[in-house]
Amino acid sequence: MDTLETLQQIAQSVAGCQKCPLHQKRIRAVPGEGPASAEIMLIGEGPGRNEDEQGRPFVGNSGRFLTELLAKAGLKRSDVFICNVVKCRPPENRDPEPAEILACRPYLEAQITALNPKVIITLGRHSMGHFLSQARISVIHGRPVKAGGRLIIPMYHPAAALHQPALKDDLLADFARVPAILANGGTLPPEPAPAPAALPASPEPAISPPPTAQPALPEKKDEGLVQLTLF
Ligand code: URA
Ligand code: SF4
Repeated sequence: MDTLETLQQIAQSVAGCQKCPLHQKRIRAVPGEGPASAEIMLIGEGPGRNEDEQGRPFVGNSGRFLTELLAKAGLKRSDVFICNVVKCRPPENRDPEPAEILACRPYLEAQITALNPKVIITLGRHSMGHFLSQARISVIHGRPVKAGGRLIIPMYHPAAALHQPALKDDLLADFARVPAILANGGTLPPEPAPAPAALPASPEPAISPPPTAQPALPEKKDEGLVQLTLF
């Protein structure tokens, strides 16, 4: 079975799933969506009201913001596979409970295995917790971690950032850094050094050093998704 068929089969199982109490109040299960060829997977927490109504992930306010964040990273929604830790809406958008996350886990794991993405961007604590159970998001947001042959980039959840302006700036900056992380072989490139303080004007006339042979600069590589093939 190819990737597309496997993903479709998982989606079908999710649509009829009754493995946890979240199935009782859902309108529609939200398996996730995106091309079977996607190299980047985004994992949110769980469907909200709009997602529950439409059966699609990130279609409400958080979804609009996520589209903006992806654009910061030079990505379109159609470039990535988007899904959630739990596939059915927790009532009143409460946090998913550990038992619900556990019950739903095989679907997420099957999706990851089928898609085999090079990069997984986690959105929020619950999604991060799937890969990095001990990490604190306030410490490692935006910092890539290699786990199981993949690159995990933990991000704040877009909904949290919509309510807290400080997080919003962090989240925008973290997404803007994604192309540089990918171009840098999956690690955060060093911050540019701060500009040196201006030297006081010298009373002596400046003597220019003798010209020396400059080593040729390496050609600037294209930034972007092509670089994904580098690691
Ligand atoms: N928040 C999520 O975590 N997932 C969605 O699909 C929508 C909002
Ligand atoms: Fe099944 Fe997951 Fe929905 Fe629970 S949340 S009913 S485990 S698909």
